[in-house]
Amino acid sequence: MKAAICILLFVLVGYIQARITYDDVLKAEFELFKVEHKKSYDSKYEEQLRLQIFKDNKKLIDRHNKRYVAGEKTYKMGVNKFTDLTQEEFKISLLSSLNSNHSLEGIDYIYNPSAKDSVPKSIDWRTSGAVNPIKDQGQHCGSCWAFSAVGSLESQYFINKGRKVSLSEQNLVDCSRGFPYNNNGCSNGSTNGAFNYIWNNGIDTESSYPYEARDDDCRYNRNYIGAKISGTVHVESGNEDALASAVANKGPISVAVDVIYKFRHYSGGVFNEPSCSQHLNHGVVIIGYGTDSVGGDYWLVRNSWGKNWGEKGYIRMARNRNNQCGIANIPIFPLV
Ligand SMILES: *[C@@H]1O[C@H](CO)[C@@H](O)[C@H](O)[C@H]1NC(C)=O
Ligand SMILES: *[C@@H]1O[C@H](CO)[C@@H](O)[C@H](O)[C@H]1NC(C)=O
Repeated sequence: MKAAICILLFVLVGYIQARITYDDVLKAEFELFKVEHKKSYDSKYEEQLRLQIFKDNKKLIDRHNKRYVAGEKTYKMGVNKFTDLTQEEFKISLLSSLNSNHSLEGIDYIYNPSAKDSVPKSIDWRTSGAVNPIKDQGQHCGSCWAFSAVGSLESQYFINKGRKVSLSEQNLVDCSRGFPYNNNGCSNGSTNGAFNYIWNNGIDTESSYPYEARDDDCRYNRNYIGAKISGTVHVESGNEDALASAVANKGPISVAVDVIYKFRHYSGGVFNEPSCSQHLNHGVVIIGYGTDSVGGDYWLVRNSWGKNWGEKGYIRMARNRNNQCGIANIPIFPLV
């Protein structure tokens, strides 16, 4: 379907190249976007509004990609399911949800890099089968904190127990509200609070307690626990060397980053934006690191926006550039 439409568009562009305007191209791209992302709008008015927002975003993407082609940028942008949203809408539904309260509790340890730990030049935990397929938190649930916690736990479980499990984010969304975990379902929460809940209760399997992308009643059932933890380990804040050592020697780690407006349009390469701040608003998982010939040192980051976002659901973010986007501010992983 997609290929057919692309060919059609090419032919169209070829035939009437002389008269076609940039605006016509943007309109055609919006039609493709609607098909590809199964978008339908309630009214003509809504459709016009979304078209306009799409055009504005696409112009930004095209401008950025010219700079990428000219070698001024190390990453590409592209159309994705978020391209018909304004930055304000995107922020409200997906980026106001991280509570970065990382106060230490009784169950916490600090990771101590040891001189005998080897820190290879690159590592990708996907190659050892330790990383589950990409999940999708949905467009209307600020549950990144739950996906971040579950992401590192699933991997740590595989590495330490040799068993693959998929665990329930919905369990955390529904059951870790209020005191003492201080999470608020789809509104906001912290990875720390999620781990505290799991430490007390365990966490159900994904299949027994599937994701709904909305707040619901707690239906935790101890008969369906998929994993338990015995504590959590924090990596020294702001220390990218310690973080690399922890990723290499312990496995995938939950972190939080500042997601600036350019991030949501990312489609490939090393995301290097010195304008990124240390204001953390999104929880993700580091599953490796390396060095790209064009973009330099990067962290390999697993996101929870589906596999059609970024590089098949992942983003490579600048590493060793003064803790860019605050990526090393609150790293944490569970002890299983
Ligand atoms: C941070 O977490 C600690 C421990 O759970 C809690 O005592 C404290 O009230 C929290 N602070 C905020 C601002 O949420
Ligand atoms: C988190 O969500 C709750 C419930 O919606 C809200 O009262 C609280 O202000 C939010 N906290 C933050 C830090 O946004």
